[in-house]
Amino acid sequence: MNKATAMPRLVPGKLVAATHNKGKVSELKDLFAPHGFEVVSALELGLDEPEETENSFAGNALLKARAAMKATGLPALSDDSGLSVTALGGQPGIYSARWAGEPRDFHKAMEKVESELKASGSADRSAKFVCVLAVAWPDGTEAVYEGEVHGTLVWPPRGERGFGYDPVFVADGETETFGEMEPERKHAMSHRARAVEKLRAALLA
Ligand code: IMP
Repeated sequence: MNKATAMPRLVPGKLVAATHNKGKVSELKDLFAPHGFEVVSALELGLDEPEETENSFAGNALLKARAAMKATGLPALSDDSGLSVTALGGQPGIYSARWAGEPRDFHKAMEKVESELKASGSADRSAKFVCVLAVAWPDGTEAVYEGEVHGTLVWPPRGERGFGYDPVFVADGETETFGEMEPERKHAMSHRARAVEKLRAALLA
């Protein structure tokens, strides 16, 4: 997944994050701050949010990074991520945000996952979060980095922290949901943290 040949470096300073999702922005700010980056989101810059028309995390991540890079003339970072449930054939996957409807209601989205799981008749409650980070530079260079965290879905939801599907996800080896965990602990194991670590190793070394 990583295309890291002769990649330009990311120079510490302002980094445009091509997302309007406040949960993601907050996590990306935390994850990039130790490397000297001030993450500025597309929302803060008033950029339009492109429609996610691709059929993969990487495709949608690249589409968002390219749009933000073109709008700002700066290297741009994007995050396309989601929850992939084994018994549902990987759903909601790239449609994770869309399962929350408009306006976004993640309690509704978690209920939908739970009811589809019940309807599937499967006892398998395993799932994973996937995060693909894409970087697009003004010279046309692009790179993608993927991180995953495997775990189990619980019901009912637990915890007020994090965002999205965090209250129903317990990572392997843990007892707390991501919604109950201290953010620093989630950042030590999350799909997003793993993708950031790959990006860091390739672009910030
Ligand atoms: P998109 O990448 O903008 O299509 O949205 C991804 C969606 O996946 C988010 O709106 C969340 O619902 C879900 N998601 C991604 N990462 C996380 C996470 O770390 N915790 C909980 N939900 C997540």
